[in-house]
Amino acid sequence: PEAERLVIAIDGPSGSGKSSTARGVAKKLGLAYLDTGAMYRAATRLVLDSGVDTGDADAVAALIEAADIASTLEPSDPAIAINGTDVTEAIREPAVSAAVSSVATNLAVRANLIARQRAIIGGTRKGIVAEGRDITTVVAPEAPVRVLLVADPAARVARRQAELGEKATSAEVTDQVIRRDRDDSTVAAFTEAADGVVVVDSTHLSLPEVIDVIVGLARRVSVGH
Ligand code: DC
Repeated sequence: PEAERLVIAIDGPSGSGKSSTARGVAKKLGLAYLDTGAMYRAATRLVLDSGVDTGDADAVAALIEAADIASTLEPSDPAIAINGTDVTEAIREPAVSAAVSSVATNLAVRANLIARQRAIIGGTRKGIVAEGRDITTVVAPEAPVRVLLVADPAARVARRQAELGEKATSAEVTDQVIRRDRDDSTVAAFTEAADGVVVVDSTHLSLPEVIDVIVGLARRVSVGH
């Protein structure tokens, strides 16, 4: 019999703990890991570095459609390269965070990245944990485990601040979390769970606890087969 392939889709706003959670779940279950936000960030990095006007939707889309984007899919060491340049660190810079919503709201860009994400998810042998904003609803709505990870805004701002350290002012962090929630919500309705999507509220849970909740959901699905 074929080994079971498991796809776990996790969506949530910034600072909800999505990435750490998704990586932890992938490690525990021996699955690949895809950070779709990193793909939008890598695309944005390329736009900024190429000097293409972020307001020129057609030029932005053409640039990204032609780009080679390679993610490691390795939960212990997630890395991403665009056109052969490793941008794992460079995609976390504030300039990228500030510009990424304008790239992510470009519908041609979304169509292109969504197609790439579906191909990556379908191509993994054992299965994958994919996280983002529209994975449970658009990229992989057929995934047997779909989770919307939520947390109170104050908790999300505090986590992002801890992640970024003192180099980020609290105004910058609040902007990144709250303004991007608003901008991002125009492209993907990730603040409310679609039918069949399990809401996990991490406000009062530790990271290992959140990971365990999702691993538990995955085990239940496997047993039910
Ligand atoms: O998760 P993140 O903060 O690294 O995501 C970066 C940006 O990419 C975020 O502003 C929203 C966008 N994004 C998206 O539109 N769809 C996804 N599936 C993932 C991220």
